[in-house]
Amino acid sequence: MRLRVAGLLIFLVCLSTVPAAMAQQVAATPPMGWNSWNHFAEKVSDPVVRAAADALVSSGMRDAGYVYVNIDDAWQGKRDEKGFLHPNEKFPDMKGLADYVHAKGLKLGIYSSPGPKTCAGFEGSYGHEEQDAQTYAAWGIDYLKYDLCSFGEMLMKEASPVAFQKMVDAYKNMHEALQKTGRPIVFSLCQYGVPAVWHWGPDVGGNLWRTTGDINDNYDRMAEIGFGQAGLAKYAKPGHWNDPDMLEVGNGGMKPDEYRTHMSLWAILAAPLLAGNDLSKMTPETLAMLTNREVIAINQDKAGMQGDRFWAEGPYEIWVKPLADGSKAVGLFNRAGPLTGNAPIKIAFKDLGFPVAVKVRDVWNAKDLSALEDYVAEVPGHGVVLLRVK
Ligand code: GLA
Repeated sequence: MRLRVAGLLIFLVCLSTVPAAMAQQVAATPPMGWNSWNHFAEKVSDPVVRAAADALVSSGMRDAGYVYVNIDDAWQGKRDEKGFLHPNEKFPDMKGLADYVHAKGLKLGIYSSPGPKTCAGFEGSYGHEEQDAQTYAAWGIDYLKYDLCSFGEMLMKEASPVAFQKMVDAYKNMHEALQKTGRPIVFSLCQYGVPAVWHWGPDVGGNLWRTTGDINDNYDRMAEIGFGQAGLAKYAKPGHWNDPDMLEVGNGGMKPDEYRTHMSLWAILAAPLLAGNDLSKMTPETLAMLTNREVIAINQDKAGMQGDRFWAEGPYEIWVKPLADGSKAVGLFNRAGPLTGNAPIKIAFKDLGFPVAVKVRDVWNAKDLSALEDYVAEVPGHGVVLLRVK
């Protein structure tokens, strides 16, 4: 009898740890991959997704860690008489597409909304959550971005505490539907961060949660979002990440120094690295920036600690991310415009908790700077000097 009670207790303990364990399993480090929206928007199609998968492999991006191939909005067709959703004519065989992606050692992501319509006006999951989760699992989907869209409009009629609870419940509902499928599926919350999604995102099963509205391919918007993440570091941990939105690197709207700022900040923020460019037409410079192994190592560090703002004086900022081996990634940013030229930004390493001289690596220049007590970097306007110190 005692044995049976003990067995039951062990079973119950295991059961209660399943959600946390699953979350760890699917996003132990910030998810990396590609998403169709920033470049293709509603022009996404089966051939576009296959081409992205091909390019992830042939460019070496997969081997650098970019494994999720995520279809964003505009794949949805109509529901059949039983309520099952089918893809539109641009996706003739979703299961076949998943098989194609999986055969390349990649994973497939998809997109929906808790509302009746997605942001681009396609069919959402409202009232069909379990059916849709089952459909995704049957296709072999590995990642779901769940975007508030029309559900937010429905909530506008409600008093705000009621609206908040309904939103939270909608995300929890889909989380539970995904769990019921038994398939590990990364759950990406997209409701633009308000109110304080980092407080409740993990409780509704979010592996990542968008902290802001949409990014655009220009420095001002990227910087507004990226530098606006100050203070959120404590909410990130393995399995649960703040998401300042997808990458714009390679889309053409920013200068190389600006894209380096984008990559460096996202690395320090332990942000998901979801490339948003056309991978089939990348320049070697874009590829080199996306696949810089030392930058990725900072982002993917297994301690899973998000970096935060360490110091700021006007347009000059220093951000620091602690890493598993005791070293620190240090980003020295010059937010003044490119016309103002280089600015000297000084970091004294004892202020970072290093009492003696440290070894310093200039990450983007792949250069060791020997043992130092402090360092003055010449940082270009809108640019960054990214250091790894130990
Ligand atoms: C919202 C999201 C974007 C994208 C579009 C698709 O704007 O924030 O990332 O998914 O919807 O319609």
